[in-house]
Amino acid sequence: MAKPKKKSNAKSKPTHSKKTASKSGPSAAALLVGRDDELRKILGCIGARRSVLLEGPVGVGKTHLAIAATTKLGRPVFRIDGDSRYTEQKLTGWFDPPTVMKRGFVKEAFTDGPLVEAMRSGGILFINELNRLPEGVQNVLLPALDEKKIALPRLGEVRAKPEFMVIATQNPKEFVATSHLSEAILDRFELITIGYQSESEEFAIVHARVLEGFDLESGADLIARAAVRLARATRGHPRIRRGASIRAALAVAELTAVFLREGAEFRQAFHDAARMALPTRIELEREGAGDRSLAEDMESLLDELADDTLGNLDRPESEKKKD
Ligand SMILES: Nc1ncnc2c1ncn2[C@@H]1O[C@H](COP(=O)(O)OP(=O)(O)OP(=O)(O)O)[C@@H](O)[C@H]1O
Ligand SMILES: [Mg+2]
Repeated sequence: MAKPKKKSNAKSKPTHSKKTASKSGPSAAALLVGRDDELRKILGCIGARRSVLLEGPVGVGKTHLAIAATTKLGRPVFRIDGDSRYTEQKLTGWFDPPTVMKRGFVKEAFTDGPLVEAMRSGGILFINELNRLPEGVQNVLLPALDEKKIALPRLGEVRAKPEFMVIATQNPKEFVATSHLSEAILDRFELITIGYQSESEEFAIVHARVLEGFDLESGADLIARAAVRLARATRGHPRIRRGASIRAALAVAELTAVFLREGAEFRQAFHDAARMALPTRIELEREGAGDRSLAEDMESLLDELADDTLGNLDRPESEKKKD
């Protein structure tokens, strides 16, 4: 089984945040399990001073991996989270109106945004969910990415230190509510595709989180095995269009642990957890056909999968798939 490797710290403020090496103790939420190959590639991009885009399904671990990589480097990191209301000013910086009134558009009246801060300090701009940024904001990045400079109205040219780079994440375009990136912006990134991890790695992630969060004498092992197996069973299932991620497995495990602590018996706790954690995170192939509603279809499928998972926990996953 892969071992937890490295701690990272993730903090964000409303617009952006600067992160430096954490001095707090390691927590399961901050450990990076596995991902050696992906980490090697990210560090390769950083070595080549090239910006990198991590693309993968919802909840697969993109943000976690990006944070782990930047933490490993110990370089200044400026994080922003893409959303449709993010503005060009927030990204680059803004003039403080009272100071401008008194002194005009002087350098001192300008507050650097995360892009300018990262450029000036030779740091890493970490853009979570790049494709959620409005196109105009994405376009501001273009010259920063390849020419390592931008021109700002009234402030002039800002040049980046050579080490400046961007690490971005996004969901692939087939995901709902995902907008496309322009060819121009894609052309400035190296791509690393992030897929689901192995069963043993997913187990290590969930197990560590259950152990950390719950004072369970025993049972963490069983909870983690069952939650991971269930999430994995939803992927590639003929009746499921979009399967569950490691985030879903964590939710199933944590809810199961709470219900057990409150005295529920295991099967009931696991079924309740599955019915609560999965309907928002998976998408059925055949939506509410026949007399049954979508919710009824979902419940019966989840009950079936949960029972099947518990009934086959002692058999290797590969053996189960052959049935
Ligand atoms: N390799 C890993 N080691 C430890 N924890 C992990 C790992 N991968 C994912 N996780 C945990 O799984 C959860 C989901 O990961 P994360 O938020 O990074 O996914 P994401 O791909 O960025 O999701 P989204 O598409 O919604 O942005 C988080 O709680 C994260 O800490
Ligand atoms: Mg993310």
